Amino acid sequence: MIAGRPRESLTPGVGHDLGELSRLVAERGCMLGRPAHLLARVASTNDEAKRGAREGATHGTTWVAEQQTAGRGRQGRSWTSNPGEGLLFSVLARVACPASRLPPVALVAGLSVRDAVARAAPGTDVRIKWPNDVLVSGRKIAGVLVEAITAGDRVEAVVVGIGINVHTRVFPAALQGRATSVALASPSVAPDRATILADVLESLDHDLHVVVGRGLSLVRARFEAADALRGHRVRSDSGDEGIACGVDDEGGLLVRRDDGVLARWIAGEAHLLRGLDSAP
Ligand code: BTN
Repeated sequence: MIAGRPRESLTPGVGHDLGELSRLVAERGCMLGRPAHLLARVASTNDEAKRGAREGATHGTTWVAEQQTAGRGRQGRSWTSNPGEGLLFSVLARVACPASRLPPVALVAGLSVRDAVARAAPGTDVRIKWPNDVLVSGRKIAGVLVEAITAGDRVEAVVVGIGINVHTRVFPAALQGRATSVALASPSVAPDRATILADVLESLDHDLHVVVGRGLSLVRARFEAADALRGHRVRSDSGDEGIACGVDDEGGLLVRRDDGVLARWIAGEAHLLRGLDSAP
């Protein structure tokens, strides 16, 4: 038991490296990650978290899986990862807020992942691509799927689902050249999944309350220092185009259109019109 909290469930089929998680989380004193359910195989950790939320799971409860059979990404995409190769987890945060706070929550979750990956893969160029993809040298290393639990138009809780490619060395053909992992980005360092996960939880623990209360203002400088899109030409899902100029306090992407108007995109994706290798 950790200070009156329920015991973690450790299931056969879960890598021993994840067994260190509870110790790391307790050492850092964060609320997120307690308790942590370590699972060998589930459909989707986000679904586990949403079910847990309905059944009364407490703030911070986290579900980590070695394998997902129906892992989900944004915009109806799937998220696949071979057993043991990735970090696949969902955190239940019982934060009540207006729905307008969801974009900042998603952005700051991406930022927590960005910072944890940067620590795990020193010397690499880790950036965040609005709204919350994490890229290393232009290739995707992690993604975030935030889902809200609502009552009317109020958010009662959020499920922050995160997938990070850690040990993956070979990706399916469709992802080759577009995805990377901590192991590929930083071959001289042996990545440690429990440490990466504890880093994400610690940072999110702190920042979540900041953005729920005040929007992105206090973390915007951190976002802008790692912004993959700033200065690049982007196109929205609906075909609008312009040059990305950062984000606002509500998590919207600011885009300078060719007619000079500063547009604000609040949902969807920003598609890069030239690779990230091209100069802004
Ligand atoms: C994206 O890039 O579109 C978001 C991907 C989010 C994937 C993670 S893996 C753990 C959690 N469970 C899911 O089903 N999805 C998220």
